[in-house]
Amino acid sequence: IIAVASSGGLVEIAPLFTIGSTVEAAPEMRVYTPLEVAGRNIYMREGCYACHSQMIRSLRDEVERYGPYSLAVESKYDHPMLWGSKRTGPDLARIGEKYSDAWQVAHLNNPRDVVPQSIMPAYRWLLRTPLK
Ligand code: HEC
Repeated sequence: IIAVASSGGLVEIAPLFTIGSTVEAAPEMRVYTPLEVAGRNIYMREGCYACHSQMIRSLRDEVERYGPYSLAVESKYDHPMLWGSKRTGPDLARIGEKYSDAWQVAHLNNPRDVVPQSIMPAYRWLLRTPLK
């Protein structure tokens, strides 16, 4: 038991000693603006993370589909983190530049208006609900 527990412990603890060299630095990282935090709160409130992940794995097909894989440091200001593990919909880590604001509004209001085959629920009340 001691041998198994020690090797298990070693496997978990050893990587922590190299954390300085394995976690990439990202000098352009900044804290979220109040508007971004408000959006993130809506993302949590509406449970978007139940269908979307925000973590691109370092696998070739993911990088080709979604863009550069996610770095740990990119979630540095995320409390709680919303990586997600279920992908009923696509990963959203690099969604920022993909569509126009008008597309996002139309899509959230009724996904079928812009993606006819979509199974994503409509979030019509977001257009009517003032941001608090
Ligand atoms: C029931 C599962 C489900 C939930 C909950 C959900 N989505 Fe989706 N989402 C999908 C599916 C499936 C797609 C792919 C079809 C489409 O584009 O509509 C998608 C697509 C998207 C896209 C476009 C992604 C791309 O790369 O084209 C965005 C942006 C998005 N969802 C945002 C959200 C947000 C924001 C919420 C919460 C308010 C949310 N989704 C909740 C299932 C879901």
